[in-house]
Amino acid sequence: MIPAYYEFYNPVKINAGDGALETIPYELGQMNAAKPLIITDKGVVKNGLLEIVLNAFRDSEIVIGAVYDDTPPDSSLVVVNEITALYHKSGCDSIIALGGGSSIDTAKGVNIAVSEKTNDIATFMGADRLKSTPRPFVVIPTTAGTGSEVTLVAVINDTENHVKLPFTSYRLLPNLAVLDPRMTMTLPPKITAMTGMDALTHAVEAFTCMQKNPISDAYATVAISLISKNIMSATKPNAKKETRFAMANAATMAGVAFSNSMVGAVHAIGHACGAIARVPHGMAMSILLPHVMEFNMDKLEDLYAKLLLHLTDEETYAKTFQSQRAKKAIQRIVEMRKELYDIAGLPFTLRGAGVTEEQFAKIAELAMNDGAMLPNPKILTTADVIGILKKAY
Ligand SMILES: [Fe+2]
Repeated sequence: MIPAYYEFYNPVKINAGDGALETIPYELGQMNAAKPLIITDKGVVKNGLLEIVLNAFRDSEIVIGAVYDDTPPDSSLVVVNEITALYHKSGCDSIIALGGGSSIDTAKGVNIAVSEKTNDIATFMGADRLKSTPRPFVVIPTTAGTGSEVTLVAVINDTENHVKLPFTSYRLLPNLAVLDPRMTMTLPPKITAMTGMDALTHAVEAFTCMQKNPISDAYATVAISLISKNIMSATKPNAKKETRFAMANAATMAGVAFSNSMVGAVHAIGHACGAIARVPHGMAMSILLPHVMEFNMDKLEDLYAKLLLHLTDEETYAKTFQSQRAKKAIQRIVEMRKELYDIAGLPFTLRGAGVTEEQFAKIAELAMNDGAMLPNPKILTTADVIGILKKAY
């Protein structure tokens, strides 16, 4: 059903495929930028990815102003300020994020600091608080999962006060996302599996949450098909470039989908598992997804039934009775998790992820206050969350 009113916005240009990196100098020139700052992390440098990116600028007039390669796994206000100082000292005029979710969120934080001329971006926390034109911003994802290259969200840790600061604004959307298959070729199997399941969760929740719309549905369903067909082969050692590229496309499409609808209870509970028990985000998504789907079943059976087509194939869908399709869709995700455990050792229980039962009450309390709970189509109580945690244990 098409909602009576909805909004959809995705102005991010996407350059994708072999050689996409080599288009960045031209694209920066089009944005009147000549001296970008690259924000990345040590792992990216170690895997030789920074070198590939730097080579793409070799014959261009663009000068790399500076490279910050020490982004931690969790972005922080301190790091944002450190990089902002480097940006100004080096006379940069644009930003390139090269990495996973943390580098991209950190770069969004730096863009806030630079464009709003502040050394305290916390004052801009929340929705639609940014008023200034952001600097030209290019994102090169090196994982296929977060979708941050096309989302209007950034989460920066305030490590002093132990809180995560959310920022939401159309001004955080990058100008350009570059999906070059060379960037995800070295991703280890377990990270490939985790980030892929995060992307799957983005797509499933975007397709089923309260703010879904026909355009986000289109992105979500294609993303689910691509992930379902490629996640296993992408996770195996020596995965082919085509499957890696398919996963990168899927993650971006899932990002567009949830940036224009929302996520739901899987993310709410998963965020809490991350905060209380340090469960990596994608791992939490993989563990919780089928259990939350089961919980939502009475409200979402028709939509889950539709997803069977995208999670399997036309033949399986046609051969399955309508009354069994939703169950089979969930079953398919359960099977995917078992395979990912066999291939990459990705845990499919909270126990396997290091969560203890004593942590359940705190996780549930935090999950109930998470913003992602609101668009979940079925209201959850604290007892419901504990019930889901027990099943996932
Ligand atoms: Fe996610």
